[in-house]
Amino acid sequence: MGSAARLSAPGALVLWAALGAAAHIGPAPDPEDWWSYKDNLQGNFVPGPRSPSPFLPASGDPASERSGTLYMCISSRPPFWGLVNAAWSLCAVGKRQSPVDVELKRVLYDPFLPPLRLSTGGEKLRGTLYNTGRHVSFLPAPRPVVNVSGGPLLYSHRLSELRLLFGARDGAGSEHQINHQGFSAEVQLIHFNQELYGNLSAASRGPNGLAILSLFVNVAGSSNPFLSRLLNRDTITRISYKNDAYFLQDLSLELLFPESFGFITYQGSLSTPPCSETVTWILIDRALNITSLQMHSLRLLSQNPPSQIFQSLSGNGRPLQPLAHRALRGNRDPRHPERRCRGPNYRLHVDGAPHGR
Ligand SMILES: *[C@@H]1O[C@H](CO)[C@@H](O)[C@H](O)[C@H]1NC(C)=O
Ligand SMILES: *[C@@H]1O[C@H](CO)[C@@H](O)[C@H](O)[C@H]1NC(C)=O
Ligand SMILES: *[C@@H]1O[C@H](CO)[C@@H](O)[C@H](O)[C@H]1NC(C)=O
Repeated sequence: MGSAARLSAPGALVLWAALGAAAHIGPAPDPEDWWSYKDNLQGNFVPGPRSPSPFLPASGDPASERSGTLYMCISSRPPFWGLVNAAWSLCAVGKRQSPVDVELKRVLYDPFLPPLRLSTGGEKLRGTLYNTGRHVSFLPAPRPVVNVSGGPLLYSHRLSELRLLFGARDGAGSEHQINHQGFSAEVQLIHFNQELYGNLSAASRGPNGLAILSLFVNVAGSSNPFLSRLLNRDTITRISYKNDAYFLQDLSLELLFPESFGFITYQGSLSTPPCSETVTWILIDRALNITSLQMHSLRLLSQNPPSQIFQSLSGNGRPLQPLAHRALRGNRDPRHPERRCRGPNYRLHVDGAPHGR
């Protein structure tokens, strides 16, 4: 267990370290960081989001026979992240957790939702692409400040990380699902409320603290121009192993977004410990594409440093959480599904003006 605690976090500590000029980002031993997506790494037990399978009654166990199929259901496994650290109890007992499955028939149409606004002060984005051992992260440099507002957001939120989650096979790997369908990957743009809080960690502990924009990704013949910059061979092979980092500049974040899109929003949580219930999620309802070659290069990234065995980063998502009675709001009118989303409400507004390409 001692060596398991060496896992490094994509948390605030690492964020600030990566923003510095130092190329080496040293993983600090940190019990606060003792979690994983899979139940163990290299034979050392590290708690995954649910209890490890050996804790389940074996088939033929009288208990599982009594309860029929109950034990087959993944949600019957105890939520482990919440049990190993008192500060993460929301992962176990929270009722506003993420990710969720979005059933489109449950989405309430809200005609008063304004369009999403992105502000970069007209500057190109730069920052560090980073293999955290759990995700592919892009950590923007302190300048330019990238702000997002509009949609359901009442405050301006500042971008602090772009995170990429993906699966071992196509069609699975996103955290959120739409109508019980997963996607090959999910891009999460993580922002904090800069009007109320000074930084990400303070915001993640307060009300209205965070806003996360999610974009779903399919494997297809074409490739999103922003993701191509991150996933081209020259770039992605620089972050093959845990703690590898590579500096990128001249990025246009607006190119990540589809030309026109609708969105669905709900109140949820961080999908990693401490599972804070302070996140306004905004799910973009039009998927992006990447090529199968780019997907393959993602799956070749390792969770481990080069000195340890290769374990693919893929499968780095939390299992679905119950939606319960939470509202899902959308800006598309389901009474007119045939109507393509046209007009300024269905475009990203960049630095004030509707973004047209
Ligand atoms: C982002 O928001 C902050 C605080 O509201 C503001 O000071 C800053 O000018 C904004 N940045 C851009 C590029 O609009
Ligand atoms: C974040 O803000 C809080 C409260 O404003 C402060 O105590 C803390 O040191 C800040 N953390 C970092 C990493 O700057
Ligand atoms: C993604 O690929 C599909 C199938 O090739 C295509 O129909 C769709 O328009 C593409 N989406 C984007 C945003 O380019």
